[in-house]
Amino acid sequence: MGTDDQPARPVLRGLHRASALFVALFVLLHMTNHLAGLRGQDTHIAFMAEARQFYRQPFVEVVLVCLILWQVGSGLVMLVRGWAGRKGAVAWLQAATGAYLAFFLVNHVGAVIAGRTVLSLDTDFRFAAAGFLAPPWHWFFAPYYFLGVLALFVHVGCAAYWGFLASRPVLGATLLGGFAGVGALFATLIVLALSGVLYPVAIPSHYLATYGQ
Ligand code: HEM
Repeated sequence: MGTDDQPARPVLRGLHRASALFVALFVLLHMTNHLAGLRGQDTHIAFMAEARQFYRQPFVEVVLVCLILWQVGSGLVMLVRGWAGRKGAVAWLQAATGAYLAFFLVNHVGAVIAGRTVLSLDTDFRFAAAGFLAPPWHWFFAPYYFLGVLALFVHVGCAAYWGFLASRPVLGATLLGGFAGVGALFATLIVLALSGVLYPVAIPSHYLATYGQ
């Protein structure tokens, strides 16, 4: 066991954290894109067109997908190996949010790649929002995306908690609570925008056709 009940896997955890820093560059841009989208569908699409200049470079995309696979794989190994020795609410919260992120990322990145290659769709705002406007799929997509964003923030908050536990435990706990609160707020706003509650959303029929609508 590591200090304060965080399971000790120093090398694997170090590499998991190092790769997370690179993935975070994309995720920051991606979350900013979704928050910019609170101003409207066209703003979301225009922001993504700019952002793609960076991450749609073949080299960047291959590295990003490899890092995501490493992130998911290394996380699942830590999840299983540390199962018996895991103690305490934060250790289990970190494990649960990591497990959900693994499920979410495999599905999410797989869906985007399939949307582009198999369905020949532009995987922009309309691709994400189509599922919300194709009942009964909204019952799946609302919690799926809400929990994806929330799990991301809580998982990062858990890392901050462990990072400050030895030196400034109150700050660590405050950061965890802060990340959880901000994550819940962002998740709610993004889901409301995608589902057409914040502003009218227009989805071309060929996106809805993928859901048999
Ligand atoms: C409501 C939440 C989310 C929505 C609506 C959403 C939507 C999208 C869309 C539409 C794309 C395609 C981008 C493009 O074609 O340029 C995409 C790609 C991606 N998203 Fe998300 N996303 C969400 C949350 C997340 C979260 C929380 C993560 C990470 C933890 C994430 C990671 C990724 C990754 C890695 C890609 C693939 C980029 C690529 O290979 O080009 N997304 N997402």
